[in-house]
Amino acid sequence: MKKRFIFLGPPGAGKGTQAVEFCKKEELLYLSTGDLLRKEVEAGTSLGKEISLIMNRGELVSDSLVLSIVENCLSGESKGWVLDGFPRNLSQAKALEKLLTNINQKIEAVVQIDVGDDFLIERLLSRGRQDDNEEVIRHRLDVYKAQTAPLIEFYRGQEILKTIEGNGEIDLVASRIRKVLF
Ligand code: AP5
Repeated sequence: MKKRFIFLGPPGAGKGTQAVEFCKKEELLYLSTGDLLRKEVEAGTSLGKEISLIMNRGELVSDSLVLSIVENCLSGESKGWVLDGFPRNLSQAKALEKLLTNINQKIEAVVQIDVGDDFLIERLLSRGRQDDNEEVIRHRLDVYKAQTAPLIEFYRGQEILKTIEGNGEIDLVASRIRKVLF
């Protein structure tokens, strides 16, 4: 079995924290669309400036831009991967399916990291990234509920959804993830 997973959850659920360590251990490609977009912002290109405005409002960047990033990274990837922050809505999920069919790959499982809103806000406020102020965090949570949460049912319907409790020590959450995947 190839290890190809999606880590899904609201802002602050710990997708990045868990996926980075998981990928190190399993020697998989870690792909965070948020990190790749932030790199473009740091590069100070005109595209980066546009992206920065959208991210700082807590809105989603256009599907076509994000898809082109993902396509470049996944094509030819043979060891396996974890996607963090992608797909983010149904249209991205459907586009991912198409892309994977074309390159003869398949998602093995989607790990949904479940954490209550109060914990999320507290975690993100103490991290303090540029888009981590209370107003923007609340908006990101609303965007998550409206656009990303429908993916839970989408992947449940495909019988590849694994839900874990994301509250607790980081190592404990990591062990919950391994338990549902292996
Ligand atoms: P993105 O970078 O994906 O951010 P996000 O989804 O808002 O997620 P976060 O990074 O905030 O949370 P996380 O779940 O990864 O948690 P983390 O491990 O960092 O997206 C940012 C923006 O980019 C979007 O708003 C959008 O504009 C754009 N974007 C990205 N992808 C896109 C896409 N596909 N389409 C369109 N637009 C896109 O942890 C958070 C904090 O909690 C850390 O400080 C961490 O140390 C702490 N923490 C982690 N685990 C625990 C734990 N168990 N206990 C206590 N603290 C913990």
